Amino acid sequence: MSAAASEITVKSDAVKQMPVEQPHVALRGITCVFHSRGRSLHALGPVDLSLTKGEFFSVVGPSGCGKSTLLDILAGLNPPQTGTAQFEGKPIQGVPDGVGVVFQEDASFPWLNVHDNVAFGLRRAGVDPAEIKRRVDYAIGFMGLKDFAAAYPAQLSGGMRQRVCIARTLVLQPRLIMLDEPFGALDQQTRLIMGDELLRLWRETSATILLITHALDEAAMLSDRVGVMSTRPGTFIDIVETGWDRNRDSRVVSTPHFGDITARLWEKLRVEALKMMSTSETRSS
Ligand SMILES: Nc1ncnc2c1ncn2[C@@H]1O[C@H](COP(=O)(O)OP(=O)(O)OP(=O)(O)O)[C@@H](O)[C@H]1O
Ligand SMILES: [Mg+2]
Repeated sequence: MSAAASEITVKSDAVKQMPVEQPHVALRGITCVFHSRGRSLHALGPVDLSLTKGEFFSVVGPSGCGKSTLLDILAGLNPPQTGTAQFEGKPIQGVPDGVGVVFQEDASFPWLNVHDNVAFGLRRAGVDPAEIKRRVDYAIGFMGLKDFAAAYPAQLSGGMRQRVCIARTLVLQPRLIMLDEPFGALDQQTRLIMGDELLRLWRETSATILLITHALDEAAMLSDRVGVMSTRPGTFIDIVETGWDRNRDSRVVSTPHFGDITARLWEKLRVEALKMMSTSETRSS
């Protein structure tokens, strides 16, 4: 046997002995069909996706392609019709322990001040008051809301209200954080700053992040990988690896590489957006 052949044999033995890392999140053959008023609507899938522990993954896709539906399945709020969804190796049935969600709409409670909004989930879970205080103070400080702990949501800007929602998720110390269009209503500068805060949170907590966004620049700047979805029923038509290091921040937007990533995302998404427009035209004619 040649030296080269024996080297290959040694390597393949080494591969056999290596522990195979289990994905943090695993979706296999997921589909979702909604039934209402005698009509069926195939909203999603089939979708296959694996997320590695600690990765930052974003999903972009045309409006109505099933992004929020996908998040609901992962959050255990809506069971899929077919396929399996697992978190940390266990099937998702009901809201899994260790998963935190920031929903598409502003979900702060208007009748509670910032402190009580952030403490809400912990109080409901019956956590010890001293531990609640420690976690809430940390989360409020982390999100830059210390001077507004006694303020009510109506007294805050849109960006600050979104930070309250993120702080409320953060106190639960989730290992998987899912965010559905969290910065959709914010202006461009605020979105970039909020993106930096999200990256800081990701680095400090080592959580896995799944971000749903319409904004290609947000996805390109923040993520390790970006999944591009087709029009409804949404499936992944491309997965783009960004190649950023963990210490990235919003300054990457001025690099040529950032331009390359957004160009590739747009190339795929443009085709899907055009398909969606032509489907709507056909329906209305
Ligand atoms: N509970 C439901 N009952 C019936 N149809 C639904 C339900 N929820 C969502 N849908 C439909 O499923 C499709 C996907 O919806 P979904 O909210 O997942 O889209 P999306 O990609 O999040 O869109 P957007 O980007 O506008 O938020 C849409 O056609 C929507 O009308
Ligand atoms: Mg949505």
